Amino acid sequence: MKSLTIAAMILLLAACGSKMMSLSQADANRGATKFPGLTVAALNAGKLHYETHCQSCHGLISPKAKSEATWRALVPKMVVMANKKSPMMAIDSAKQASILQYVVTMSTAPAK
Ligand code: HEC
Repeated sequence: MKSLTIAAMILLLAACGSKMMSLSQADANRGATKFPGLTVAALNAGKLHYETHCQSCHGLISPKAKSEATWRALVPKMVVMANKKSPMMAIDSAKQASILQYVVTMSTAPAK
């Protein structure tokens, strides 16, 4: 009984933690207006690829900081640079698309 309570508490904590740290269904719904069928899992995958590949030369840049148009122009450019630097862990086109979905969905910068 006691271990059940502890297990429940851990689950609750994990649920709260992931709510703060990661992406929500509302994010996926917003993103799906631009990327039909986008899921929370797909967004999380994009976030992971972004964090894996996009902070070796500069710090991780918040997706919020750039507009959608800027991301659409920048990501392909950055992928070329990243793949030149690390051909062993090159970003393929599926991962590039996944990164783009994540940063565009989470972008809050106005278009310019
Ligand atoms: C090989 C090193 C390297 C990697 C890997 C890299 N970048 Fe960059 N990034 C740069 C350099 C150099 C600049 C500044 C020059 C420029 O804008 O072309 C830059 C600039 C940027 C900027 C603009 C920053 C600003 O202050 O306006 C963004 C956004 C960005 N990178 C995103 C990414 C993303 C997304 C990825 C992963 C796909 C990535 N970068 C991976 C080297 C890299």
